[in-house]
Amino acid sequence: MLSREYIFKNETVSTSSDLKEIVRSSSLPVYAVIIAERQSGGRGRMGKSFFSPKGGIYFSASFPISGSLENAPFITLLAGLYVCKALEKVCSERLYIKWPNDIYLGGKKLCGILAELINNTAVVGVGINCEINSDSCPPELKDIVTSLSEHGIEPPDKKALIAEIVSALDRELYRNNALAGKTESYARQINARFYLKDKNVKIASGEKEIFGKALRVSPKGALVLQTENGEEEVISGTVFRVES
Ligand code: BTN
Repeated sequence: MLSREYIFKNETVSTSSDLKEIVRSSSLPVYAVIIAERQSGGRGRMGKSFFSPKGGIYFSASFPISGSLENAPFITLLAGLYVCKALEKVCSERLYIKWPNDIYLGGKKLCGILAELINNTAVVGVGINCEINSDSCPPELKDIVTSLSEHGIEPPDKKALIAEIVSALDRELYRNNALAGKTESYARQINARFYLKDKNVKIASGEKEIFGKALRVSPKGALVLQTENGEEEVISGTVFRVES
């Protein structure tokens, strides 16, 4: 089994920023995990902030990639899948992946994932709302987030949960070569948890806005939409509007 260094912090600005700094300044591959009790400047996708008070689970893990980086964006979905699998054991409920990086429970956001690439290393940051009351969140989040405690779920053993997620990703990335192209079985499991299924969505992808009905996630990790021009694949983007 891969040996990993675990670093625990009471508070930091962002575990992902800390880990990126370590990766940036190291001449060797870095296999580390940074865990914090709270973050003062947690970061989400697209330059958004990620509210990170005490009571959440915040960690970042680095995954050096030796082969082609072509499929590296798939790591976000792979991380989402293994976060779901680990949390489903404590929730006894199915969790859903809102393409590409959010995990939903009961129609609200439970967890966000941020994967960043630096020096051929993916730094994957995960934030899980564990013992957080959504009423104490900033007004813009109150109605869209949830937590394990709001569903009556006991807080899991933090270190064990993180180790389970990280070792599952180590196994899939390094032993099972998850990025080598045979991604159909992952895509099948992601599609079994596909939050957007059959919802009408608006996607902002670069300069483009695409409207359509969400069909599935492709083996490459793209969102497949039924648009007025037929099926279209969106490899990266932000989902702006969701209607069932
Ligand atoms: C998102 O919701 O857009 C992604 C949120 C990712 C949050 C995690 S918390 C641990 C790590 N450190 C950060 O600053 N961000 C990630």
